[in-house]
Amino acid sequence: MKILVVGGGGREHAIIKKLKENRQIEKIYALPGNGGIASDAECVAINAKDIQGIVNFAKGHAVDYAVVAPDDPLVLGAVDALNMEGIPCFGPTKAAAVIEGSKVFSKNLMKKYHIPTASYATFSDIENAYAYIEQQGAPIVIKADGLALGKGVILAKTVEEAKNAVYMIMKEKVFGESGNYIVIEEFLEGPEVSVLAFTDGKSIKPMISSMDHKRAGNGDTGLNTGGMGTVAPNPFYTPDLAEQCMHEIFLPTINAMRSEGREFRGCLYFGLMLTQNGPKVIEYNCRFGDPETQVVLPLLESDLFTIMQACTNGSLEQVDVRFKKECACCVVLASEGYPQKYKTGFEIVLPNDGESEIYIAGAKLDQGKLYTAGGRVLGVTAVESTLKRAIDKAYENVEKVHFANAYYRIDIGKKALLAQQTEA
Ligand code: AMP
Ligand code: GLY
Repeated sequence: MKILVVGGGGREHAIIKKLKENRQIEKIYALPGNGGIASDAECVAINAKDIQGIVNFAKGHAVDYAVVAPDDPLVLGAVDALNMEGIPCFGPTKAAAVIEGSKVFSKNLMKKYHIPTASYATFSDIENAYAYIEQQGAPIVIKADGLALGKGVILAKTVEEAKNAVYMIMKEKVFGESGNYIVIEEFLEGPEVSVLAFTDGKSIKPMISSMDHKRAGNGDTGLNTGGMGTVAPNPFYTPDLAEQCMHEIFLPTINAMRSEGREFRGCLYFGLMLTQNGPKVIEYNCRFGDPETQVVLPLLESDLFTIMQACTNGSLEQVDVRFKKECACCVVLASEGYPQKYKTGFEIVLPNDGESEIYIAGAKLDQGKLYTAGGRVLGVTAVESTLKRAIDKAYENVEKVHFANAYYRIDIGKKALLAQQTEA
C-alpha cells in the first residue's frame, strides 16, 4: 500500500510514525512533510493548500489511501477532490469540515441540537456587535468566524477591549475574510480538556483525553500559541464525565452533522471546558490536534491504519480502539520569540539513544543536517506508567536536544499533576 499524508508538522510526524507500524504499508509520501519527517517518509515539496497539486501527485504515484491532517486543505475540499479521483481518504469532506471552518456554523449547530456550549450571538454588522457588548458587559469572548491560525479568539476583560477586538476583526480585517462574521460569546471558566475521536459518521470512538498548554509562558501566561506541550490522559476528565460527554456532546454532534447532510468521517476534535454547569464545547476541530496527537497516538495500542480505514468505509463499530494504560507527556521546543518574531536556521542536534521519541515540527534538512525552520521546532514525548514519570522523562530527554535560541515551558503537566494529587 502507498499512503499519502498531507501536512508537515509535529502532528503529521506522529501520524506517520504510528502508520509505519502497519506492515501493509510499503511507502509513505508526506506533502510537504519537513526535514525531520524525511527520515520516516518521502517528502514532496507540494504545499498542503495546493489541492490540485496534491490530487495530481496522488494520481501520478498510484496512491492507495490519503490522510489529510491540517484544517486548511480539509476546509478547501481536499478529501472531495481526492475521492473524485477514486482515492479513499481519512478526513471529512468540505461540507463536514465546516464544523471547524465556520464558528457561526458550529455555534448554530450546537444551539439547534441542544449541545452544551457558551451562550452567544453572531454579527455581520459592527454597530450591532458594539451594542451587544455594551448590553452584555465584560469579560466577554470575541471570535472571528473563519480559520485564523488559532489566533481568531480574543478574551476581552473590558468592554473597551472587546470593542477594539471587534474593530480589528471587522473593520481592519486582521484575519481577512475570516472576519466578515463574528461570534460574541459568554466567558466560561473551568479546566479545559481535549478529546479527539474517531468517527465514521455513525459511531464514534473517543481517544484517550489530553490537556494542551496554549500560552507561551509558564503558569499559562503570555500569548496564545499553537500549543507548547500536552499530557494524556487529562486527570480532570473522569469516567463519569466521559460518559456524560458521550451522551450530551459526542453522539449528538455526529448525529446532528448527519441530519444536516454533512456526515463527518475522520477525526473530530472536541475542545471542552468543564464548567460548574457541566462540560461545554469551546470549539470543534475537523482534524487531529497539534500537539495533542503527539501524546495520544503513542498511547494507541490498536492499529491506526485499520481504524482510519474503518472510519472511511463505515465499519468503525467493528474495530477495536484500545489505549495503553499509561501516561504521556510532550514538551514542545520552540524558537525563542515564538509566537511573534524569531530567528531560524540553527543546527539541531538530536540524541542518538534510540529511546527519545521526537516529533519534528519545523526543521529543514541540508546536506544531512537538520536546521530550525519554524516557530515550533519539535516535540519530545515520553510514555511512562505514571504522569509524574512521563513528565520527568520528557524533561530528561529535552536536555539531550540542542539548538541555539531554543525555548520551552518548564511546567508542562504541572496543573494535571496537581489535580491528580488533590483527587488522591
Ligand atoms: P480556540 O481558538 O477556539 O481554541 O480558543 C482558544 C482558547 O481561548 C481556548 O482554548 C480557551 O482557553 C479560550 N476560550 C475560547 N472560548 C472561550 C470562552 N467562551 N470562555 C473562556 N475561554 C474561552
Ligand atoms: N491544540 C489545538 C489545536 O490543534 O488546534
